[in-house]
Amino acid sequence: MDKVNNKQIIVALDFDSAEQALAFLAQLDPAQCRVKIGKELFTACGPALVRAVIAEGFDVFLDLKFHDIPNTVSRAVKVAAELGVWMLNVHASGGLAMLEQSRQALEEFGVSRPLLVAVTVLTSLGEEDLRQVGITATPEQQVSRLALLAQNAGLDGVVCSAAETEILRAQLSPEFCLVTPGIRRPEDAAGDQKRVIGPAQAILNGSDYLVVGRPITQAASPAAVLQEFNLAIASVR
Ligand code: C5P
Repeated sequence: MDKVNNKQIIVALDFDSAEQALAFLAQLDPAQCRVKIGKELFTACGPALVRAVIAEGFDVFLDLKFHDIPNTVSRAVKVAAELGVWMLNVHASGGLAMLEQSRQALEEFGVSRPLLVAVTVLTSLGEEDLRQVGITATPEQQVSRLALLAQNAGLDGVVCSAAETEILRAQLSPEFCLVTPGIRRPEDAAGDQKRVIGPAQAILNGSDYLVVGRPITQAASPAAVLQEFNLAIASVR
């Protein structure tokens, strides 16, 4: 594995047009990062943009957080895999059958299958929000429960907040991936992120991949900021 860069930074392409996304990507080297396409960009541009980004050489995390009945989600997962994405996600709260069937749908892709990760509890939800939808567990308890469910269903990992990384790392198997957003350097604005963590600390706490949006997408020199993130990670590897 390349000691300086094994592409643990996933840059969030939070744009609303293909032109903006591709112009931004032209400034980055696919050897230095992976990218995430979420609901906004996908809804605006669809699978054509996913194909275009892959054709530029980037590994794509398709962040559509599927949540539906097992048949519907597993079929959507299969179609996403056919697009050639590197990682995709589903909501763990869709239940064990949905998770297992989704993982099963990827079998036919063999070693080139995408990684399948789960969202546990949205970080926008607190204890009172969970209570309103009938969940009496604390967010932390619910995150652990859903992460274990995802692991038992054979998924590859979960998306988790910086605050959850250490406890999940202790509860889950070492191969299970933790994908963490909310990453900031000391000089970066937090934006709407309530709890942020530095890139090196996130890796030390057990994260495998770091999702970084605005600190890189809004930078005057995105490639230079990306390099700083990569160097920070390399310093603790
Ligand atoms: O700009 P910023 O670095 O805050 O972007 C973080 C990215 O990670 C966004 O695409 C956001 O939707 C996503 N994300 C997050 N918090 C979560 C899950 C996903 O910030 N709990």
